[in-house]
Amino acid sequence: VIEAKGGKLSQIFDFMKNYVDELKKKDCLESEAVEEAFRKVKRHLLLEYFYETDEEGDQEYAGWKFSKKDFDPLDPDPEILKIIYSDQPILTRIDPPSSTSQPALVARMLEDLKLKEGLKVLEIGAGTGYNAALMAEIVGDQSLVTTLDIQEGVVRQTKRLLRQAGYGRIHVLARDGFFGCPENAPYDRIIATVGCTDISFHWVEQLAEEGFMLIPVQHGNLHPYLRLYRDKDRISGRFINWSGFMTIQGQLKIEGLWVKAPWKEMTEKPSREYPLFPAFQDEEDEEMRRDKTSEFYLFLTFKDRRAAALPQGSGLLEERKGAVVIEKDKIRLYNNAEPLYQELKKLYEEWNALGSPKIGDYKVEFLPLEKAPAQGDKVWIIERKFTKQLIIL
Ligand SMILES: C[S@@+](CC[C@H](N)C(=O)[O-])C[C@H]1O[C@@H](n2cnc3c(N)ncnc32)[C@H](O)[C@@H]1O
Repeated sequence: VIEAKGGKLSQIFDFMKNYVDELKKKDCLESEAVEEAFRKVKRHLLLEYFYETDEEGDQEYAGWKFSKKDFDPLDPDPEILKIIYSDQPILTRIDPPSSTSQPALVARMLEDLKLKEGLKVLEIGAGTGYNAALMAEIVGDQSLVTTLDIQEGVVRQTKRLLRQAGYGRIHVLARDGFFGCPENAPYDRIIATVGCTDISFHWVEQLAEEGFMLIPVQHGNLHPYLRLYRDKDRISGRFINWSGFMTIQGQLKIEGLWVKAPWKEMTEKPSREYPLFPAFQDEEDEEMRRDKTSEFYLFLTFKDRRAAALPQGSGLLEERKGAVVIEKDKIRLYNNAEPLYQELKKLYEEWNALGSPKIGDYKVEFLPLEKAPAQGDKVWIIERKFTKQLIIL
């Protein structure tokens, strides 16, 4: 294991301490085991360059401009450490993309994964190996962790940096996560750290009897993550929380399930405004109002392939035609989207009549495509590539 150059270690520990304090303040760290892991694993040792948002940058990803920052992980400057030990995702590759995810999300998912000493875990989306190293600390034995990435270049670099940082016994393999890793199965836990457009039945086969999976599954352009258990020939579980990941590549990738939401293009002036729907008007607290709108947004994604989460709010979007967006203070229409507004209003009334269900209120099942699913007025179906997803209230 290498140490930092030039007596920088104490400076690094200061940055790490503030970083953990910041995550604790955000209530993302609950258990001692996860907190300990965040105190131990040095995020900066698993990077040697990254892409920083920069208006003048010469690289582009998801509509944003970036420039590349190289550094020596053994001799990092304070301004590099400040970026790495802060609650932000860090882009490490652009095309195809890779990153180390936002630490608050990593922490929250690790808490929800309920790892314990001695449990065996499979990760889909190795990226920098940061999450894998955190998991290795929690389960107490590196060889219990297997992590897969579809990009060979990512795996080569991650293996090397993990080894240098003292995590050389984690299994890092280059392959499409769709296939899982039967060589090391069964797993007590399976976690995907990439936005999945579908679920793989290989994972279900490789899951231990009492185990569960934590999978961010695309709904609109976000990925609420689900805790899923094996239940005979089906997979069932519930939504746990929201997340936004980069989209999966390989076998599980599906294009066009929902409308592609623009991130920066919606700069034109709104053509009309309406007051917020009553359920959102009642919420004085900004955070509560946002939570309520995301709950409605989840319902929208079951009902309408035009559901989109935009920087200014969520609503319905029809490419080139217009959008209706529930914003902070008003509902705004872009490009005279009056018919879209009327449809959104109907969907709101339906959601409201159901008792404005929350993210955790639905039961979710994934069935093989050929299975005929249950019908009902409180059952919604999303047809994916290999599975039918049933959402049941
Ligand atoms: C957000 S990053 C993962 C972050 C990582 N867990 C970390 O701690 O740094 C998502 C990763 O998923 C990988 N990926 C995309 N599609 C994949 C697939 N089908 N199988 C395995 N990995 C995949 C990408 O190459 C990328 O490196």
